[in-house]
Amino acid sequence: MNNKKVKRIGILTGGGDCPGLNAVIRGVAKPAMNDHGLTVVGIEDGFEGFVEGRMRELTRDDIAGIIGLGGTILGTSNKGDPYHYPVEGLNGIEIVDASTRVAKHYKGWGLDCIIAIGGDGTMHISNKLAEMGINIIGVPKTIDNDLDATDQTFGFDTALSIATEAIDRLHTTASAHHRVMVIEVMGRYAGWIALQAGLAGGADVILIPEISFKWDVVMRRVIERSTRGNRYSIVCVAEGAKAADEEIVIKETDIKRTDPIRFGGIGEHISRRITQETGLETRTTILGHLQRGGSPTAYDRVLATRYGTKAVELAVKGEFGRMVSLKGVHVTSVAIKDAISKQRLVPVSGEIITSARNVGTNFGDE
Ligand code: F6P
Repeated sequence: MNNKKVKRIGILTGGGDCPGLNAVIRGVAKPAMNDHGLTVVGIEDGFEGFVEGRMRELTRDDIAGIIGLGGTILGTSNKGDPYHYPVEGLNGIEIVDASTRVAKHYKGWGLDCIIAIGGDGTMHISNKLAEMGINIIGVPKTIDNDLDATDQTFGFDTALSIATEAIDRLHTTASAHHRVMVIEVMGRYAGWIALQAGLAGGADVILIPEISFKWDVVMRRVIERSTRGNRYSIVCVAEGAKAADEEIVIKETDIKRTDPIRFGGIGEHISRRITQETGLETRTTILGHLQRGGSPTAYDRVLATRYGTKAVELAVKGEFGRMVSLKGVHVTSVAIKDAISKQRLVPVSGEIITSARNVGTNFGDE
C-alpha cells in the first residue's frame, strides 16, 4: 500500500503484440481520465521507449474508437528489457543494465504509477522495477495463455478462433486432394493454441510441447487415415512441439530479445518426414502472425476492458506490485512476484486431453 494520491499514471505495452491491447489501454484511460481526473502518459514501444525516454500524454481522442482495433496505439517491443538492454558497442551489440534510466524517466515525468501490459517477460521486468521502488501494476496479455496466475490471458481467444478457422478451411482442400495437411501454430513452450484449436477444428493429430511425440505413432495414424473415408489427415502442431528423441526446432536466436529464442520450423520438419516415410502428399501451413493480427474477439475485448478498469482501481487504491488476474468468473489480482513463479502448461493428464483422446485425437504418444 502507498498512501500518496495517484495523479499521473504511465501505461505501456511490452513484448509481442496481441489482440486486445488497445481495449486495455481504453479500459485504463477512460475511468482514469473521466472518473478520477488522472493524467495518462502513454510510453512508446514498451520498455524500449521507457529506457529511451519516449512518451506522450494521452487525450480522449487517442482512445476513442479503439476497442476493436488490433495492435497497440503505443507500439511495443520485445527487445527492451531494461536489465538486459542491447546497445551498440565497439565490438558490436553489448548487453547492459539500463534500469536506472527507467527510474530516471519515471521520476522526471512525475509518474505515480505504471500499468505494464505484457506477458511473462514484462511481468519479470515489472517485478524487478517494483523491487526498485517503482509503483507498478501488471496486466497479463499473450496469445500463448501461459501465465499460471490467471485462468486466461486476453488475446488467446482471438488466436484460438483464427487457428480454428484455418483448420476448418484446411479440411475441405485436404479432403479434395486426399492429402496430409500439417498446420503449425504459435504458443512457445505451451500447447494451448494447438490443443484447443486442434480440438475445435477436428484435427486428427495434435502435437504439443507437453507431450513428446513418437514418429512411428504419427506415421501409423496418417497411413491408416489415408486408406479410409475421404483419405486425408490434419496434423495440428504447436511450434514448441518435439519428437521424443529430438530438440525443439528453432528459427533463430537473437540476444537482443527478452526471450532470445524464436521458434519455427517444426511443421515443415514433420511434413518432410511424413512424405519421406509414407509417400503421402503433404502440405504445410504456418499460421504465424495472422494469429496475433486484426480485431480481438468479443470475449477478448470484454476481458481486456475488465483488466484495464481493474488495474485503475488498484492504482487509485495504491495497491501496487500486483497483476490483475481472472479467477473463475471474477477479475481479481495477485502479487506480481507470485505471478511469475510458474508457467502455465497444458496438464498432460488433464480433462481437456482426456476429452480429446475420447473423440479419437492422437497426440503422437500412443
Ligand atoms: O509470445 C507470443 C508469440 O506470438 C509466440 O507465440 C511466438 O513464438 C512469438 O511471440 C513470436 O515472436 P515474434 O513476433 O518476435 O516473431
